[in-house]
Amino acid sequence: MARRKKIYEGKAKILYEGPEPGTYVQYFKDDATAFNAQKKATIEGKGVLNNRLSEFFMTGLTNIGIPNHFIRRLNMREQLIRQVEIIPLEVIVRNFAAGTMAKRLGMEEGTPLPRPIVEFSYKNDALGDPLVPEEYILAFGWASQQDMDDIVSIALRVNDFLAGVMHGVGIKLIDFKIEIGRIWDGDFMRLIVADEISPDSCRLWDMKTNRKLDKDVFRRDLGDLAEAYTEVARRLGVMQSAPVNIGKPKLIN
Ligand code: CDP
Repeated sequence: MARRKKIYEGKAKILYEGPEPGTYVQYFKDDATAFNAQKKATIEGKGVLNNRLSEFFMTGLTNIGIPNHFIRRLNMREQLIRQVEIIPLEVIVRNFAAGTMAKRLGMEEGTPLPRPIVEFSYKNDALGDPLVPEEYILAFGWASQQDMDDIVSIALRVNDFLAGVMHGVGIKLIDFKIEIGRIWDGDFMRLIVADEISPDSCRLWDMKTNRKLDKDVFRRDLGDLAEAYTEVARRLGVMQSAPVNIGKPKLIN
């Protein structure tokens, strides 16, 4: 018999029914995919790192008053989250040109942008998450004008927070993606940050060397992904770099 009901299985996470109404359990897998799942691998330890890192970032957001889906971590790979109605958009914030933006505009990766740029992709794997203008989002009713204003404001606040935290540990926040969900309180609707915030969904470069500490390590075969994520976790102080040596039991005189 299944341990509990599986609600949804994605590329890097599984959602299970939660212990209370209105909750889910989010399980972080070790699977990594890139280029719309054309490239796949299992990277031991990635799920544990992302569970811990997403907890760290979401808790930080809660502490500065940015509502999000995180309730509490349950174990090494699972966290309890609020059930939301996901808006089918990937909300991307960019501080420096990279990835598809650099390619589209012929810019060198790492070029600073005049100001943070927020853009939206339509969340649809079959279509490869195409970039969409706000006009489409409004016309197709994926979100209202008020939602879009709130989403941009949330995205920029998350950017300020993440960029600051990363700067403090010698990392440049190049860009990142968040997803936004709706929660209902009777007729009253609120937008909150959902999904995950981890090096799977950010571009993080070491400030001094520009070494990549994010999923590009996997996308571009630049080395050991788990090692790069561990470095981020270590700098943020959220994970021991080596097992703690508690030593042998000692007799107390
Ligand atoms: O990552 P890629 O080059 O395909 O696309 P991008 O538009 O340059 O990605 C901008 C940022 O959003 C990067 O930090 C990506 O890791 C993240 N992203 C994501 O997490 N999931 C997606 N489906 C697309 C982008």
